[in-house]
Amino acid sequence: MSRQSFALSILVAARLCTPLHAQPTLQGAFHDFFRIGAALSPVYFNETDAAGAALVRAQFDSITPENVLKWASIHPTPDGFNFGPADHYVEFGERNHMFIIGHCLVWHSQTPNWVFEDGKGNPATREELLRRMHDHIFAVVGRYRGRISGWDVVNEALNDDGTLRQSPWRLIIGEDFIAKAFEYAHEADPKAELYYNEYSLENEAKRKGGVELIRKLLAQGVPVAAVGLQGHYHLDWPSVEAVDSTIAQFHALGIKVNITELDVDVLPHVTQSHTADVSAKAEGGANSNPYTAGLPGAQQQELADRYAALFGVFLKHRDAITRVTFWGVTDKGSWLNNFPARGRTNYPLLFDREGKPKPAFDAVIAAARAAR
Ligand code: GLA
Repeated sequence: MSRQSFALSILVAARLCTPLHAQPTLQGAFHDFFRIGAALSPVYFNETDAAGAALVRAQFDSITPENVLKWASIHPTPDGFNFGPADHYVEFGERNHMFIIGHCLVWHSQTPNWVFEDGKGNPATREELLRRMHDHIFAVVGRYRGRISGWDVVNEALNDDGTLRQSPWRLIIGEDFIAKAFEYAHEADPKAELYYNEYSLENEAKRKGGVELIRKLLAQGVPVAAVGLQGHYHLDWPSVEAVDSTIAQFHALGIKVNITELDVDVLPHVTQSHTADVSAKAEGGANSNPYTAGLPGAQQQELADRYAALFGVFLKHRDAITRVTFWGVTDKGSWLNNFPARGRTNYPLLFDREGKPKPAFDAVIAAARAAR
């Protein structure tokens, strides 16, 4: 057999082994660019939804827990830790060789009231609250030291106008609660990447405040590895230009940028502002839930185009971005079916209610291929 025909037969054999219609995967398509993650509820990492767990394994190379590492879940009472669900989450990630994210250590929401009190219902002192923050971080980060690779240390410390939110953390400890949280997390696991995570940084006032905050922290030597742009987007907000310049401005500070909670709300707006503030509630009026029988083709296409445009920007900034994580796996489990109005039928993700890839999935894969 000649050299050429030997090479040809090898090629043909390789072709035959690769199914012609093999389903492309997100993690495969983006392998050379950045990690692709999903936020998981327990049905995935406990594998009670076996098909869902298989989908996660095939598509994603990073995971974030929706709730099991939040203070209220893992540390509900002063002396009571509930590590079981978080252990299962971490074990799932390890079994599947995924980049495991911890979310989140210091937040004003999903944190029990006792954290901020002295035991008699009065506000805790700065010293008490710092001690509590320290002990919580050492207990949780310490338990998963070397296993969880990156932590959202502080979540949502800013108001929409860019000033510091008057959360109990800020009110009781003072402005340095952010620096302290990073300091403790770094001591608890010096090798973990530490992140500041926030929504709506694409809006100018909040972005200015965010850039200033990170600049100050870095100047003080606080080990912020990356800012997380949550990415709770809509079809018409924010503009791709705003996403583009937000990524560029944070990267210019010398840190990485992660997209940490990506989804695209396709339903009519029911609040005045585009907010991902979990305390926002709205009444869904008669016309606020128009797609209960399925997303029509035109809107399906609009969503695909929106995702293509967003990933175009992310790929442009591939040097800045290390991870893009979706907030959920399929449309069925998305928080946007109940936020900001309860009981709507939303379509914010790349996989439909049966776990099948949507046109938006194809658009995202095509964006990756075009970037090669
Ligand atoms: C915020 C939090 C997440 C999650 C979402 C809504 O963005 O960071 O943990 O609670 O809200 O589900």
